[in-house]
Amino acid sequence: MAEQTQDGGKRRAGRYAADLVEEGMMVGLGTGSTVLYAMERLVERMDEGLSLCGVPTSYQAELRARAFGIPQTSLADCCELDIAIDGADQVDRSLRLIKGRGAAQTRERCIAEAARRLVIVVDERKLIGTFSAPVPVEVLPFAVPLVASRLTGMGGSPVIREGVAKDGPVITDNGNWVIDCTFPSIDDPEALETAINTLPGVLSCGLFCEFAGKTTVVIGGKKGIRTLHTEM
Ligand code: 5RP
Repeated sequence: MAEQTQDGGKRRAGRYAADLVEEGMMVGLGTGSTVLYAMERLVERMDEGLSLCGVPTSYQAELRARAFGIPQTSLADCCELDIAIDGADQVDRSLRLIKGRGAAQTRERCIAEAARRLVIVVDERKLIGTFSAPVPVEVLPFAVPLVASRLTGMGGSPVIREGVAKDGPVITDNGNWVIDCTFPSIDDPEALETAINTLPGVLSCGLFCEFAGKTTVVIGGKKGIRTLHTEM
C-alpha cells in the first residue's frame, strides 16, 4: 500500500513535469523510476502533436527513449538544452539534491549544466530537512583505494557499490566504479560537494548544490503536487 502511494506521487510528479515541455524543446531525459512517468506522458503528448528531442542522461534513459519512440540526440550534438527532467534521492528546502542511486550522476550533472531549467521530480518522502542518504561517488577504478582513504579522512564511511545481478563492483555507463559514502552529518553540502569533486580520480559525486537557482522541484503527494522554486 505504501509503495502504491509512493508510485502515485511519483506518477503525478512525472506527468506534471512532462507538461512543462513546450513545442520544439530540447529535453534532458533523466534516469530512474520517477522520470519514467514523465517519459510516458511525453509520449502521450507526442501522439497529440508535440515535437521534441531528448538528450539522455544514461543508457537506461537512452533505451527507454528508443523504446518509446522519443527522438533523441547526444550532448555531443546539442549542449544547450531548454529543460531537463530528472529524479533525486533526497531534496532539501534550499533545492540542493543527493542523486546517484542509479549510478548516473556524472552524466546527470552534465545534462543539468547544459539545461536552462532543471525540473526534479520526486515523491514527498524525498523532501528532507537535513541530508541523511549516502553520497554516491563515481571513481576511476585505479583511484578507488585512494579516494576511499580520502573520504574516510573527511569523516565518511565509504563502501564500494556491488552489483545486484552481477558479482563484484557496479560498473557505471562510463566504465568506472561507485563508492557510496555515509557521513555522520552533512552540515555544509556545498563544501562537501567541492571537497569530494576535487579529489583526483573522482568523476562526480551525487551532491548537486550549484543548480538550485534554475531548479524547480515537483513533489508528488497522495492527492496532488506542489512545486518548490528558488526565490529570485
Ligand atoms: C540516478 C538518479 C535518480 O534520478 C534518482 O536515484 C531517483 O530515482 P527514482 O526516481 O527511481 O527514485 O539519480 O542516478
